[in-house]
Amino acid sequence: MSVRVYRNKEFELLDDVYDPGEDSYLLVEAALKEVKPDDRVLEVGTGSGVVSLFVKDIAAKVVATDISPIACRNARINGVPVVRADLYSGICSQFDLIIFNPPYLPTVPEEQLGSWLNRAFDGGLTGRREIERFIKDIDRILAPGGRILAVISSITGIDETEALFKDKGFHMATAAIEKVPFEKLVVLRFSR
Ligand SMILES: C[S@@+](CC[C@H](N)C(=O)[O-])C[C@H]1O[C@@H](n2cnc3c(N)ncnc32)[C@H](O)[C@@H]1O
Repeated sequence: MSVRVYRNKEFELLDDVYDPGEDSYLLVEAALKEVKPDDRVLEVGTGSGVVSLFVKDIAAKVVATDISPIACRNARINGVPVVRADLYSGICSQFDLIIFNPPYLPTVPEEQLGSWLNRAFDGGLTGRREIERFIKDIDRILAPGGRILAVISSITGIDETEALFKDKGFHMATAAIEKVPFEKLVVLRFSR
């Protein structure tokens, strides 16, 4: 276990859990601008819980999920209410804001890691496998007028991602953007 610090907040990081990077902190910054005090927020794929850790200081309610049991334990250690789930399966309530920093790297089977950490990076052959699955049934848990914040890399395909959400009637805006070596990271905001 090690300790990370962001905006003067300390949090724990367990082995085999995604070590928060530029993408995580870009999402924290976008979320801090987006979240309103009466929002019910769901974070999908919370990892260490770093994003929800900041959001829960503002929002009315925060629930997180992760498919990795180690990530769930980590988020719980950091005080984030989390359930182990594949995306939002088994979640029945509705949320005003849904946040997701998905595994977005195009990955061939030979590149897969043999641990739960693989789920943090592996976006399937296109990089969009999890975001495609995420959008499919989103109206079951997104409240009317709800918004989505999702991190995407230029490697994953920003236009292709926009098309997926457009098919479901969403408009896209850029909430935050950062250039890092070899890619551009973007937090996309979707609303109707
Ligand atoms: C890129 S990491 C982001 C972690 C954290 N939100 C952050 O920004 O630092 C992606 C996270 O999504 C989780 N994940 C991947 N596929 C998932 C799925 N189908 N359902 C739930 N969580 C998933 C991974 O285990 C990992 O913790």
